[in-house]
Amino acid sequence: MRLQFDPLLDTPKPFVKWAGGKRQLIPTLNQNLPDNFGTYYEPFLGGGALLFHIITERNNPKCNISDLNSDLILAYITIRDKIDDLIPSLKNHEKNYHTNSISYYYSVRESNPKSDIEKTSRLLFLNRTCFNGLYRVNSKGKFNVPLGKYTNPNIVNEENLRSVNRILNTTRVSIKCRDFEAVLSDAKKGDLVYFDPPYQPVSSTANFTSYTNKDFTFDDLFRLAELCQNLNSKGCKVLLSNSDSKEVAKMFSSKHWKISKIQVNRAINSNSKKRTGHFELLIKNY
Ligand SMILES: C[S@@+](CC[C@H](N)C(=O)[O-])C[C@H]1O[C@@H](n2cnc3c(N)ncnc32)[C@H](O)[C@@H]1O
Repeated sequence: MRLQFDPLLDTPKPFVKWAGGKRQLIPTLNQNLPDNFGTYYEPFLGGGALLFHIITERNNPKCNISDLNSDLILAYITIRDKIDDLIPSLKNHEKNYHTNSISYYYSVRESNPKSDIEKTSRLLFLNRTCFNGLYRVNSKGKFNVPLGKYTNPNIVNEENLRSVNRILNTTRVSIKCRDFEAVLSDAKKGDLVYFDPPYQPVSSTANFTSYTNKDFTFDDLFRLAELCQNLNSKGCKVLLSNSDSKEVAKMFSSKHWKISKIQVNRAINSNSKKRTGHFELLIKNY
């Protein structure tokens, strides 16, 4: 087995399907990346679609990645440090799922494992087998998505997990579970920060996703807009995805910010008719 991460052979991809995941937008985001930057920061990491793109396509930058969802961050750390124990645990889930998918799915959903390996394999198993591959918790932080309809879900996906393991072990990536505001004090001139926060619902009927038991409120968005102004004053390069709303456009109306409207297909929506095109904003200061 190869021990080193080889950017020509390894193409790690997000190992979770995540609401708001940016995989399909990578070509657009790539066109909007600056040619050069220092450290890369991604404080709303989710599935990390842009992180994996940057690590494989750019010249091995130092990366500081973080998210407030502790289960998700534990998964990154477990894949990095305990892959050889994680794979058999996932294979065990796969075997049991094929025996009786309904009862096994709900027994795992109700379970509350204590070890890092079992916690991570539970998250990955549920993500592969739940309805729409959605991560959503209730107000007590308990995962509450029903079983999805799959004939043969790829529960283990060993090749990609090993590729992610190699990339996290052989590149300069620091992983933290923190609020976005707590991880940028060291960001300096020339560093790149990509913000992809939970979006505000664009209408009262729009889907809203709870990634943690603490919703991302309008006050959080305001905090984020202030942080973007501070980073801009320090000379950091800032790229932000957000919903196409008047409030967001107003927060970034000063001359430093270039706003473009981009068309996206929303992959996760319980109503398949609503999965087609809608617009988002892409905002940058360079
Ligand atoms: C839209 S998703 C990011 C999707 C990601 N770009 C991808 O490609 O998968 C937003 C993320 O922000 C995280 N989050 C929510 N509130 C946060 C906060 N206050 N600080 C940091 N992360 C937060 C959520 O857990 C979620 O993973």
